[in-house]
Amino acid sequence: MKELVKVKNLKSYFFIDNAVIKAVDNVDLVIHGGEIVGIVGESGAGKSVMALSIIKLLRPPGKFLSGQIWLEDENITELNMKDMRRIRGKRISMIFQDPMTCLNPRLTIGEQIAEPVLLHRLNTAKNNFFHKLLNRRIRKNLAKKIAIENMQKVGIPDAETRYNSYPHEFSGGMRQRVMIAMALAAQPNLIIADEPTTALDVTIQAQILQLLCDLSHEMGMSVLIITHDMSVISEICERVYVMYAGKVHEEATVEELFENPLHPYTRALLNCIPRVDVEDQNMQPIQGEMPDLISPPAGCSFAPRCQHGTELCAIREPELREVSKNHWVRCLFVN
Ligand SMILES: Nc1ncnc2c1ncn2[C@@H]1O[C@H](COP(=O)(O)OP(=O)(O)OP(=O)(O)O)[C@@H](O)[C@H]1O
Ligand SMILES: [Mg+2]
Repeated sequence: MKELVKVKNLKSYFFIDNAVIKAVDNVDLVIHGGEIVGIVGESGAGKSVMALSIIKLLRPPGKFLSGQIWLEDENITELNMKDMRRIRGKRISMIFQDPMTCLNPRLTIGEQIAEPVLLHRLNTAKNNFFHKLLNRRIRKNLAKKIAIENMQKVGIPDAETRYNSYPHEFSGGMRQRVMIAMALAAQPNLIIADEPTTALDVTIQAQILQLLCDLSHEMGMSVLIITHDMSVISEICERVYVMYAGKVHEEATVEELFENPLHPYTRALLNCIPRVDVEDQNMQPIQGEMPDLISPPAGCSFAPRCQHGTELCAIREPELREVSKNHWVRCLFVN
């Protein structure tokens, strides 16, 4: 598979009150064309900062410090805001956890889905003879038609009527579908979904994840799923990055990670998943808390919580190493 997005040595820090918070510290990440990749980790691990850095939506006091971001053969690291706007929405779309904060309560659902279609797909500013011929009314009608098609694609029933509904008339799950329909407007190569389902009940969560999965297969679109929930990873992802304290601690295909989890942190996360096939569940929440990212421990950042932590772990920081083909781990004691 061809690489669609490639991130090298990304560092994004927060600068507050003379302190530096190393939210994302030297992270590499690859997303191939059509691939569904997950980033998993506890709250504060740096997952959202990672996603916002890729699409340049990280706001002060957060700052992209260094690293490279490639979109296919283009280095987009240094793009200005104007050029980046052309990439966001058009080639990379992002959907967030709470649709209500992204939807305009005064505009109909349909208008909001049609708007990015007009902007990214039917934009006359494009140097395209066909587009220039289209007058405004025709473009608006076409945008409406595409918007309704996208509403159907994401499973909003009765799309033509519901085009005229307002956000408050939709349930949480339906609003999340609206967000996905908006994200699809320009037929992007990648959708980044940051905890798209945590606000929803379990059945609706499963439906939304399935929808993203189906759309990815149908349209050959890549998806980056950000979650703290290993069961979400197991349901739809193909490859996964386990993030802890701003760093990747393990990376593997989902099959490999679930069959052969190597990092003690990954194992601890897997221990938090309830299993349907085991009666006597020995589920354990991970003891302790993630270290302060202002002055993280000198050695392995998971050492203070690690059951296998030794004196060496407290002083020497492990590298991320490839221990078997395409399986990477950051732990001194994994061979
Ligand atoms: N606005 C902010 N100001 C200061 N520090 C911040 C801010 N936002 C994030 N951080 C720091 O960056 C770290 C990573 O935050 P991030 O939002 O990426 O975590 P996350 O993995 O997405 O967590 P969650 O699962 O809760 O969404 C946090 O631990 C925090 O220290
Ligand atoms: Mg987050």
